[in-house]
Amino acid sequence: MSVTPSVLSESAIVTRLRAAGCVFAEDEAQLLISAAPDPAGLDAMVERRVLGLPLEHVLGWAEFCGLRVAVDPQVFVPRIRTEFLVGQAAELARALGPGRRSPAVVVDLCCGSGALGAALAAAVGRVELHAADIDPAAVSCARRNIGAAGAVYEGDLYEPLPAALRGRVDILLANAPYVPTDAIGLLPPEARIHEARVALDGGADGLDIQRRVAAEATRWLAPGGHLLVETSDRQAPLTVDAFTRHGLIPRLVTCDDLDATVVIGTRPTAAG
Ligand SMILES: C[S@@+](CC[C@H](N)C(=O)[O-])C[C@H]1O[C@@H](n2cnc3c(N)ncnc32)[C@H](O)[C@@H]1O
Repeated sequence: MSVTPSVLSESAIVTRLRAAGCVFAEDEAQLLISAAPDPAGLDAMVERRVLGLPLEHVLGWAEFCGLRVAVDPQVFVPRIRTEFLVGQAAELARALGPGRRSPAVVVDLCCGSGALGAALAAAVGRVELHAADIDPAAVSCARRNIGAAGAVYEGDLYEPLPAALRGRVDILLANAPYVPTDAIGLLPPEARIHEARVALDGGADGLDIQRRVAAEATRWLAPGGHLLVETSDRQAPLTVDAFTRHGLIPRLVTCDDLDATVVIGTRPTAAG
């Protein structure tokens, strides 16, 4: 079989990427060149990127919290802003107490590629990690990223989790879809076309899935356990309201640098 060598020099690749609207064309060209298996493969990768596929889907991975996370076609690409949620979760997991013998029980709901759970496990060290997603493509991707560090289940929110986790979860991560249905059309094509609709659509006001997560959280959290949900500045009051209605003590945390907004809901302990 003959392999056609790439006719594209690095500068020609940069020019093509820039013409296609890639803002970081030089960086992307370097990444594509280093990831391509051979010259023909490089041409094909440049072509896919120029056609509008997210860079991470072309490469097959995304960088998240310093990890290289596999991201399959249509699976949600973990966003840098979500590193803030993982940082908050790591602080809470560490605060569980150095004297504690058993590892923190962590659940990553709506796990997508499994990036959040994998990053938290890497940051904290010893955790009992469970992750779940409704999309089979995401589940298969998460299984690769989480590997032996945890278990990944397929199904609707809490439904596939082992019942034995009820009342035992210390840290519940849920970067659920939160884009209002009417706003999906306004997303950049990379998300709108190349990420699964189920990964984006949060219903009329974007809160449909978050409300369902909050509604059942106290059944799964240990007393004093925390639910962490990413939201937007504008939607934060609705997220806080959903947490309060369902018996969680809400706390809003933000990071201007990453443009990140997270609501942390804590299950009250018996002592209050
Ligand atoms: C915004 S993406 C976030 C993925 C991942 N947590 C991250 O931040 O990279 C939302 C994920 O929620 C999943 N999802 C949507 N509805 C779900 C449901 N009812 N039950 C479980 N997962 C769901 C989607 O398949 C998608 O992977």
